[in-house]
Amino acid sequence: MVSKCNLVSVLGVFLVLTLFQNPITVSGQNVPVVALFTFGDSNLDAGNKQELTKTLVAQGFWPYGKSRDKPNGKFSDGFITPDFLAKSMRIVNEIVPALKPNVNVSRGASFAVADATLLGTPVESLTLNQQIRKFNQMRANWDDELIRKSLFMIYIGANDYLNFTKNNPNADASAQQAFVTSVTNKLKNDIKLLYASGASKFLIQTLAPLGCLPISRQEYNTGLDQCYEKLNDLAKQHNEKIGPMMNEMATSTPGFQFSVFDFYNVMLRRMQNNKDYRFFVTNSSCCGVGTHDAYGCGLPNVHSRLCDYQRSYLFFDGRHNTEKSQEMFSHLLFGADQNVIQPMNVRELVVYPVDEPMRDFWVPQTSESVSSSSSSRGYEDL
Ligand SMILES: *[C@@H]1O[C@H](CO)[C@@H](O)[C@H](O)[C@H]1NC(C)=O
Ligand SMILES: *[C@@H]1O[C@H](CO)[C@@H](O)[C@H](O)[C@H]1NC(C)=O
Ligand SMILES: *[C@@H]1O[C@H](CO)[C@@H](O)[C@H](O)[C@H]1NC(C)=O
Repeated sequence: MVSKCNLVSVLGVFLVLTLFQNPITVSGQNVPVVALFTFGDSNLDAGNKQELTKTLVAQGFWPYGKSRDKPNGKFSDGFITPDFLAKSMRIVNEIVPALKPNVNVSRGASFAVADATLLGTPVESLTLNQQIRKFNQMRANWDDELIRKSLFMIYIGANDYLNFTKNNPNADASAQQAFVTSVTNKLKNDIKLLYASGASKFLIQTLAPLGCLPISRQEYNTGLDQCYEKLNDLAKQHNEKIGPMMNEMATSTPGFQFSVFDFYNVMLRRMQNNKDYRFFVTNSSCCGVGTHDAYGCGLPNVHSRLCDYQRSYLFFDGRHNTEKSQEMFSHLLFGADQNVIQPMNVRELVVYPVDEPMRDFWVPQTSESVSSSSSSRGYEDL
């Protein structure tokens, strides 16, 4: 009893202190009216690929969308990360595919298209640069003030590295470095283009450990437990450049604000300690065929295996996450601490005053700093 009272009063004091320390509270209706715009590849595609191609796409068919009873052109058994994130941001509208006619884009839209790349000319898709041009064509839908307050979420580059590795299986270290540099330079220029269109709040995800995707394990015959390290190395080299690049833009460009989500390690931790995160299977997919059930989910002529319980899988198909894991990612994006998203999480970024220079920046994390803080407190605390 005594200890309970103490706990209550300690919590009470804590709460009061917290309230006074943060003049900007973000609970409930205090979340400002903003929109969410997404750019990138299949992970953020809300149905654009389906609009762009005349052929039938696998993600338009069962079992895609099965947890929500209908395939919706999204790469998951149901909703994807931006759907959940939008809810946290109090956006009542659906994040619609921008390429679909007659949709309501007033609170944002998805410009992401499956197969998108930064470089090259992807087939029946759009590069990030083309997505941003599309946004500019539709720019009259939103006033400048809304654009400046709104969140621009970007996940792109995986297809560039998958394509590079397929075409250059024996690339040496310098060829890899040169490719990473051209990919990240292009990303930087594209972000500048978006900034020139009025965007000021950017959310960038680092690339997943691409060599650990079930499709990579399967295609490169890595065996049961191994990842294809060549792809992981490329992802790591890419990721190392993201934080410094965003820091540089925030210091050199007025009003530029950002968050970097450490998607690489969020995914890796779930694969390495799956039980801690309540996943039973993290190295093969729920839907598909092959050694890791990674190929052909939704394709009409493929007799895919489908797992019984999607929510215990990290991956739904060979390279996309289940709805369950995407919901987790959205919680981390919105509210996790610096170990996962820095220098601010989305909750903080959307209330951070427009035009206010950032005072905290992205800092590199060593594995020691990650593991020591993980033992001292909740690692991915909300
Ligand atoms: C679009 O959505 C907004 C916000 O929910 C709503 O106010 C508006 O009426 C909608 N526009 C149309 C044309 O339905
Ligand atoms: C894939 O790689 C090939 C060969 O390097 C290149 O010609 C092509 O443009 C790349 N495709 C994309 C979409 O980047
Ligand atoms: C996945 O990982 C588990 C646990 O490490 C292992 O037992 C299993 O063989 C792996 N399966 C595949 C398909 O890699």
